[in-house]
Amino acid sequence: MNYRHQFHAGNFADVWKHCLLIPLIRGMQRKDKGFLFLDTHAGRGAYDLSAAARGDSLERTPEHPDGFGRLSAAPNLPGLVSEYVSLVKEFNWARGGAGTEVRYYPGSPWITQKLLRDQDRLALCELHPEENSALKAEFAQERGVSVQTLDGYTAIRAMLPPLEKRAMVLIDPSFEEKDEFDRIVSAVTEALRRMPAVTIAVWYPLTQRAGVDRFFDQLLLTNPPPCFTAELMVAGEDSSLKMKGCGLLVLNPPWQIEREFAPAVEALPGLLAQGTGGGGRLVWLVREK
Ligand SMILES: C[S@@+](CC[C@H](N)C(=O)[O-])C[C@H]1O[C@@H](n2cnc3c(N)ncnc32)[C@H](O)[C@@H]1O
Repeated sequence: MNYRHQFHAGNFADVWKHCLLIPLIRGMQRKDKGFLFLDTHAGRGAYDLSAAARGDSLERTPEHPDGFGRLSAAPNLPGLVSEYVSLVKEFNWARGGAGTEVRYYPGSPWITQKLLRDQDRLALCELHPEENSALKAEFAQERGVSVQTLDGYTAIRAMLPPLEKRAMVLIDPSFEEKDEFDRIVSAVTEALRRMPAVTIAVWYPLTQRAGVDRFFDQLLLTNPPPCFTAELMVAGEDSSLKMKGCGLLVLNPPWQIEREFAPAVEALPGLLAQGTGGGGRLVWLVREK
């Protein structure tokens, strides 16, 4: 496991995923009854962006300037994007970040924790030993949060269905393994077998369109519940960028949540573009009835 999210924190992919996470969680909270949020690949929880250019041995070009950096001072952001930017800025200030540039960026665990209510519960899985220790230190004092040293896919089997009988799962792997899409299809199938109404969000990179289309074909063979994908392309297919975009696949989405995604799907592609031919779209793979 060589992947460290540290070098990617606050990049365009984090912006897309973390921004869309907000309406998903709020959608789950339309009901008073609490729910379990399971983050299967949680990372270290918080990131110091000033360290992002220092690799283990190599100097790196930080990615956050073309991600969160593009939004931090942007005028007239739509409501959802502006809420996300405020949440990150508040986190930065609370950590002691001063000045106009954000230094401390929250990962999915902190973004989620900031939105959860007393009746909701957060379970975080992280396999990398150093990231896991950092994550445990981050959440040691937090009520309603547990940190597991567990394979995120195993956690799905171990934790679903939860006592609350309501759950949302975020699957955000590092895609170091060649068979990651196969593992996701198995995990999603298992989660839905255990809990047919579970809401699942899966982040994936858009490096090769064909690989992603195969993933959808495989998923559709399992007869999944209503699901859509929200994709951001920061450049066109012919761009030399390795990662040209990313997507968030959502299964069993909260009712009509796509309306709440719309402002981000419309505004972020222009703000985050790194070349021509990009864009944003939301496509239903299986429609709600
Ligand atoms: C993309 S990062 C997670 C970022 C985080 N979700 C966020 O948005 O802030 C993926 C993380 O998964 C961890 N990881 C990789 N394979 C794992 C597995 N099978 N189970 C749990 N964690 C894993 C990696 O160490 C890495 O920290």
